[in-house]
Amino acid sequence: MADNKVYIFDTTLRDGEQVPGCQLNTIEKIEVAKALEALGVDIIEAGFPISSPGDFNSVVEISKVIKEPVICALTRAVKKDIEVAAEALQYAKRPRIHTGIGTSYYHINYKLRSNQEEIIERAVEAVKYAKKFVEDVEFYAEDAGRTENEYLARVIEAVIAAGATVVNIPDTTGYCIPEEYGRKIRFLKENVKNIDKVIISTHCHNDLGMATANTIAGIMNGARQAEVTINGIGERAGNTSLEEVVMILKCRKDIKYTTGVNTKKIMQTSRLVSTLMRMPVQPNKAIVGRNAFAHSSGIHQDGVLKHRENYEIIDPREIGLSESAIKLTARSGRAALKHRLERLGYKLEGDRLNEVYEQFLALADRKKDINDDDLLVLVGEERTKDKILKLEYLNVVCGKSAIPMATVKLIYNGQEHMASATGVGPIDAAFTAVRNIVKTKVKLEEYLVQAVTRGMDDVGKVHVQIEYKGANYYGFGANTDVVTASVEAFIDALSNCLMVNPKA
Ligand code: KIV
Ligand code: ZN
Repeated sequence: MADNKVYIFDTTLRDGEQVPGCQLNTIEKIEVAKALEALGVDIIEAGFPISSPGDFNSVVEISKVIKEPVICALTRAVKKDIEVAAEALQYAKRPRIHTGIGTSYYHINYKLRSNQEEIIERAVEAVKYAKKFVEDVEFYAEDAGRTENEYLARVIEAVIAAGATVVNIPDTTGYCIPEEYGRKIRFLKENVKNIDKVIISTHCHNDLGMATANTIAGIMNGARQAEVTINGIGERAGNTSLEEVVMILKCRKDIKYTTGVNTKKIMQTSRLVSTLMRMPVQPNKAIVGRNAFAHSSGIHQDGVLKHRENYEIIDPREIGLSESAIKLTARSGRAALKHRLERLGYKLEGDRLNEVYEQFLALADRKKDINDDDLLVLVGEERTKDKILKLEYLNVVCGKSAIPMATVKLIYNGQEHMASATGVGPIDAAFTAVRNIVKTKVKLEEYLVQAVTRGMDDVGKVHVQIEYKGANYYGFGANTDVVTASVEAFIDALSNCLMVNPKA
């Protein structure tokens, strides 16, 4: 292996999926696994097969479809677990069993009610047994973060002698601080016989907000595999997030470690996991949060518009975003307002821009965050007048045993057009019907539904973001009928795109 390559071991489908409410079915897990393969991770931990028939089945199905990454299955240091994991991995092109046992004082005394010598025996026995089924066996020393280094070194030396190919040093409780975790890895590197024959892995939890820092400290002290999850999801405060580790290694060239991840796919993978797991990403989350590239102060906005690197250390395109978001507040300048209005399809200059800017400042004094809907109200009267597309008619058929179908009538450049389509749901059917009229090849980047209040008669607000030739266009719709609001938002975004690209 290249000495500076860090293997990315993704455990979104195992440690990430253990979070209450985040459970996925097998089809969804396969979708995530395929996205992880496209992202370029080296190892996918697909599940804990003994834990449930669903987990077993997911490992089987993922093993069948994934070609490149190693497929890993978790076990305890228990023979039955190992047998079931081996069976679940039977179709994997590159199978790995991940077995282990607790090594800290707490785990040995209060969880396993055992002693240090017996734990070493059980660890060795588990690795040897796993070796009967697969060549690639990873051993984890659970709660290694709180295990004293001398004893940990003895455990690790014994499992390497038993055949382990990777040794995982989890900070299970997220207790370590970076200097301490780095020292632990260095201690193993310097004191364990044959440690250079195996890969040392980090597996850090985020209870004190230090998972990423600990992982980087581990890498800088000799670890060559990082166990991570998309969006940092996982037990309690989560695991180390994949996007943070990968982007640190990419953007800090002075650290000199690389990964095989195609960073341009980070954002789409993050959105897929967030949607399927029904787990929103916090807006200020590093790399993938909605605000991670949003600038709100006038000085920053002006600086970014003049030269991106004035305030951005990562080009948003590196993670698959098309540009940084300029957040509009009372501190924003004309340049930022003009830029945003253009993205919404309004090219304002001179007096008209000054006029809207004055109204914008007056509104921004009363309202902290100015969103696209507010801007659309500000440019108000001209809004529908200028639109290239207008929704005239929408009829949708859907229900438990019906095939969703939609018929739309649009006014497109002053002429009436009608089309129908079926889809996986009413919104998909309606969007496809619109696409049957407007052939411009746009990509749907974001679709967000929000309720204004909380009642059954609530107005649904829909935001749509589409991408065409590297630029994003936004659309908005509001209606008590959320399908109508969705179609309005979609054709609004299409209108804005066509306004800037009339020949599209
Ligand atoms: O956090 C942990 O210790 C784990 C192990 C099972 C690898 O998830
Ligand atoms: Zn864990």
